[in-house]
Amino acid sequence: MSETEKRVAVVTGATGGIGRWIARGLAEAGLHVVLIGRNADRAESAAQWIAQGAPGASTETRLADLSSLRATRTVGSAIATSHPRIAVLVNNAGMFSARRQVTAEGREAVLAVNHLTPYVLTDALDDALRAGAPSRIVNVGSSKSDRARIDPNNLELTRGWGLSRAYGQSKLALMMSTFARAERLRGSGVVANVVHPGLVATGLVREGGVIGAAWRIMKLYARTEEQGAATPLHVALSPDWATVTGAYVKDRVAVAPNPRALDSALASAVESSTRGLLAQVFGAG
Ligand SMILES: NC(=O)c1ccc[n+]([C@@H]2O[C@H](COP(=O)([O-])OP(=O)(O)OC[C@H]3O[C@@H](n4cnc5c(N)ncnc54)[C@H](OP(=O)(O)O)[C@@H]3O)[C@@H](O)[C@H]2O)c1
Repeated sequence: MSETEKRVAVVTGATGGIGRWIARGLAEAGLHVVLIGRNADRAESAAQWIAQGAPGASTETRLADLSSLRATRTVGSAIATSHPRIAVLVNNAGMFSARRQVTAEGREAVLAVNHLTPYVLTDALDDALRAGAPSRIVNVGSSKSDRARIDPNNLELTRGWGLSRAYGQSKLALMMSTFARAERLRGSGVVANVVHPGLVATGLVREGGVIGAAWRIMKLYARTEEQGAATPLHVALSPDWATVTGAYVKDRVAVAPNPRALDSALASAVESSTRGLLAQVFGAG
């Protein structure tokens, strides 16, 4: 089947970790996969690695630093122009940081990469996902959202930033926006779910010192990157998940999320605060 006849998937963070295996699994399932990475060499080597492991795989690479919301919107628009029908979007890229960082656009970096970027990219691909229906959005969350608290008035944690709090709150915000999007898309043929991949031995924690040492020990008990890709791939591909929307999935099973994620007043406040942060970058409207 030629590239133009294949259904199209888009994967962020496809240059390493779980994302590389997700991209490979989608290519093995016969989709043309658009790999988004921020580094040309890593993106090209991921494409080559997929081609070696899955002969006949069809991929293309696109470059964007997903800590930039403008770059994210630009790459999303370019992909939608090339691929007006998209079957699968996996927002997998994520980051963990031991210190508070602010992006060139003035956004707190963990919130930007883990929550704001998926929001912007999915918006940019909205028409293409609707045109490609039945289609699926799979957002890679984390069980760190399970007990996280969220303050809609302090999403960037200008007060009280902590590494665990920032990561957990960003993943809870991602979950809440996924559920809100699933409701908005109901009846469109586009489903949206959030998955926890398990504890996976990847390069997610890039810190040295005590945090790096703790991560190296945790990795001894973690699943492999390939195993970590299993639940995102299942939700992206299995017929069982073709019509399920607004679910939180662990080990291929829908589970109860943090009750805060189901609080509609809180969800509206998070949505409105998210839009406010985006407006600071893009302007209102
Ligand atoms: N590992 C775990 O135990 C675990 C548990 C729960 C959830 N998760 C989630 O799983 C997802 C994948 O993480 P992973 O464990 O596979 O981590 P990883 O090995 O660090 O991979 C992260 C991917 O995201 C990309 N990325 C990060 N920041 C980016 C940016 N600013 N612009 C473009 N790409 C960027 C990385 O690109 P580069 O190659 O350029 O660095 C890499 O491809 C994340 O959302 C993470 O939060 C992981």
